[in-house]
Amino acid sequence: MPVLQVNDKKFKPYISAVKINERIKELAAEINTEYAGKRPLFIAILNGSFMFAADLFKEISIDAEICFIKLASYKGTCSTGNVITSIGLDEPLQGRHVIIIEDIVDTGTTMHKFLPQLYAQQPASLKIAALLHKPEALLHPVAIDFLGFSVPNIFLLGFGLDYDGLGRNIPEIYQLTAE
Ligand code: IMP
Ligand code: MG
Repeated sequence: MPVLQVNDKKFKPYISAVKINERIKELAAEINTEYAGKRPLFIAILNGSFMFAADLFKEISIDAEICFIKLASYKGTCSTGNVITSIGLDEPLQGRHVIIIEDIVDTGTTMHKFLPQLYAQQPASLKIAALLHKPEALLHPVAIDFLGFSVPNIFLLGFGLDYDGLGRNIPEIYQLTAE
């Protein structure tokens, strides 16, 4: 696989499409077993998770629903700073078994701010499926129940992840090179 140039940065291959696909099948198998008969509701967080969500959902063989939401952060009027609001979450969550689908948990800030809003709706259960996690970057503890790959604190591109809006379409995961 070649070195990729995206705008001013160079990226090199990090996780192959084959490896990603194998890992997604393993995660789906765990979910299929754990959620049989529970009709889980997957909530995929756009934009980054669209590719992971599609590939994971194709491997789900039990009855399940999926919806896609966007998180927008704005400056609240109170001193707590940024508030996160969700766009497109129309399904009532009360009593549902909810699985969040995230591309990557980096600092954990997004999940830390968003999860309380979901818990407030009293789902029967709430778990997180994330393709990638950077434990070294974590500022807020986030329990990831279904994790694809734990990675060092490096900038990644591809398979839904972007640099400056580009690279989401790459079917493998690339890492930023030092040069
Ligand atoms: P967090 O709130 O810091 O956990 O950030 C999560 C979001 O930051 C992810 O959903 C991604 O959209 C973005 N992000 C974090 N790390 C990377 C990366 O290495 N490449 C591209 N996007 C990233
Ligand atoms: Mg994201």
